[in-house]
Amino acid sequence: MNYKKPFYQVPSVIYGNNIVERLIELLPQHTKSILIIYDKVLNINFEFLFKDYEVNIESFDATKNEPYTTDVDKLALKYEKYKIDVIIGVGGGSTMDVAKAVSVLIPVIDNYLSEDFQGWDLVNHDPIYKIGIPTIAGSGSEASRTAVLNNGEKKQGINSYASMFNGIILDNSLTKTVNSEVAFYSAMDCYIHSVESLEGNFINALSKEYALLGLKISESRYYKMEKDANMTLASYFGGVSIVNSEVGICHALSYGLSIEYGIRHGLANCLIFSHLEEFYGKHVVRFKEMLKLNKISLSQNICFDLNNDRIKRLIKTTYLMINPLINALGENYKSILTPEKIVDIYKKI
Ligand SMILES: [Fe+2]
Repeated sequence: MNYKKPFYQVPSVIYGNNIVERLIELLPQHTKSILIIYDKVLNINFEFLFKDYEVNIESFDATKNEPYTTDVDKLALKYEKYKIDVIIGVGGGSTMDVAKAVSVLIPVIDNYLSEDFQGWDLVNHDPIYKIGIPTIAGSGSEASRTAVLNNGEKKQGINSYASMFNGIILDNSLTKTVNSEVAFYSAMDCYIHSVESLEGNFINALSKEYALLGLKISESRYYKMEKDANMTLASYFGGVSIVNSEVGICHALSYGLSIEYGIRHGLANCLIFSHLEEFYGKHVVRFKEMLKLNKISLSQNICFDLNNDRIKRLIKTTYLMINPLINALGENYKSILTPEKIVDIYKKI
């Protein structure tokens, strides 16, 4: 099948171990002012930038909550006057998403808020040049064309090519200090990206190969238990695959869990995916084997308090994910993933 759209990837990728200082190679020549947005703990020394550039550093504590649109709005307002040339996002998916969203919003902060761009292809201006450095592997944010935000009512991405990084550093040595449970949930996000991409209608020959690589490396690490398997690369491959296809049912359902119960994205996906055997068959079986092998037991009875209001919101949030659902189930997705089935799945969690 001929793929009708161009195949998108981050234009410049530098990979290896202990290579963060090579980010100088990714800076445009005119660079004067840099904004670094990092996770709660900055485990990288950026002093090598201080001599030649004006550097501002801002933290986003992703351990408290996933990013809200108001977090992005505040940062964009604060840094508008600094004439930032380059934004560097350092951390897990949430922190990189904040950096991506701020880069989209700063140029138009006088007229827009970040929630104005939540949806698909709503950005019609040039964002600020940006570089991503993942320190937790799996979200694929370093490769993806989304920056997922919560505006209090909905969790939805700024899904746009304007959200993509211009360059990324894939340095697996940066992920070594991550808590093993957090690393597992994040890696399973990558595994699920790869599965949803492979099993979806939007797949094409190129994205299929990337998804297969994401799947293979994730399984090497958490099924074959090969400690050296490079999850930083797996995360990137899974991310490239979904840029050029889409996610699927698991992501459509997991956003509701995050909004209603404040559950982080990686864990929310794991909770949902374990009940999707009807849709993703052998991949769910393999996922459950990986849970056992890695001694991960998922929480239960999270949705014990499903009342009518909650149910309505969960169904509404799921159906907002139109493209993922069409990718997974076709245009008539509501006749397959019916409101009753959505509720049944949540009731099991
Ligand atoms: Fe994801």
